[in-house]
Amino acid sequence: MIIVTNTVISQPVGKFLVITRKLNEKNLPFPTNWSELFGADRPLIVEIGFGNADYLLHLAQTRPEYNIVGLEISNQSMEKAERKIQKAGLHHVCAIHTRAETALHHLLEPASVSEFHINNPDPWFKKRHSRRRLMQRDTLDALVSRLLPDGFLYLATDVLAYAEMSHELLAETPGLENTLDAPWVDSLPGRIVTKYEARGIREGNPAKFFRYRRNHQPAPDIPTLRELPVPHLVLQTPLTASDIQAQFAPMTHQAGNEIFVTYLNAFFNQRQNVLLIEVTITEPTIEQHIALMLFPREEPGTFTLKYGTLGSPRITLGLHRATAFLGDWLVNLHPDSRILRASLQTER
Ligand SMILES: C[S@@+](CC[C@H](N)C(=O)[O-])C[C@H]1O[C@@H](n2cnc3c(N)ncnc32)[C@H](O)[C@@H]1O
Repeated sequence: MIIVTNTVISQPVGKFLVITRKLNEKNLPFPTNWSELFGADRPLIVEIGFGNADYLLHLAQTRPEYNIVGLEISNQSMEKAERKIQKAGLHHVCAIHTRAETALHHLLEPASVSEFHINNPDPWFKKRHSRRRLMQRDTLDALVSRLLPDGFLYLATDVLAYAEMSHELLAETPGLENTLDAPWVDSLPGRIVTKYEARGIREGNPAKFFRYRRNHQPAPDIPTLRELPVPHLVLQTPLTASDIQAQFAPMTHQAGNEIFVTYLNAFFNQRQNVLLIEVTITEPTIEQHIALMLFPREEPGTFTLKYGTLGSPRITLGLHRATAFLGDWLVNLHPDSRILRASLQTER
């Protein structure tokens, strides 16, 4: 028998094989109660972009009195981390498959983190890629908001231009104080050399280390983004689901400045008379690839539009806007169509 669990460790338990479901932004509550997840109420350390997970393991081995969370977007790094954590038999550390930006806004609560560690973030040198940099005003404000008073932000980079840019940004952040006598130093006690740090040394670019402390100035007001109520729309149309599929062509929709929706494909299941529309939704804090479904209702000519379970959608404003726009598109296909009821949010 196979049991799928949400636990961090995957191992044979008696005659059962327990398979890990990776912890990620899809299966963790918004916000996450970390003490509950770890089964122990301990202060929290978060590492962003742990790469080969050596530093994450080092943190776990040297800081047993903390709960330690690593955030990563790379699948390969996730697998390495999970293997290393399991091999070391550690229960106060876990790896989460997520963009740091998503974790900061959805998983972590204000004033909840004792330390953030960021080692060698991807520099994204080109100006047109600068919005992808981790060190930028919005993300730094979210980091400050999530830190506890007197909590620490550690940053290391082997890229001089990134260090200079970070120094400017950090120096203009009222919620943080530099704990060093210089903008950065070339070593800090208690560290191990990470993979990228070693590469920097080999290439003649030793790392620059920053250590900032959260002071008692008010933090930027960035509440945790919780899930919204379920979006739901009932419509009436003389068209069949198959007629609608025939009229579908890929389309995009922009809601405000920040939400971008792409409707990629429409698939029709003849047996169940259900139309599935594949959708990507990009919001500043989360990206989703999900399905909206058009189900026939008992009353002929009426349908319900709601999200399917494909892609494990999180109920965000973007999901509401994606449902609303698709509903409008559907009723505009025929003059005798109309929306009968809708439960949709247009703003938070
Ligand atoms: C240059 S590597 C550094 C790895 C490791 N910290 C080290 O020093 O060896 C950057 C790491 O950050 C991860 N990463 C990049 N952007 C991220 C984001 N927005 N959220 C979480 N991880 C991210 C990448 O997948 C990669 O593993």
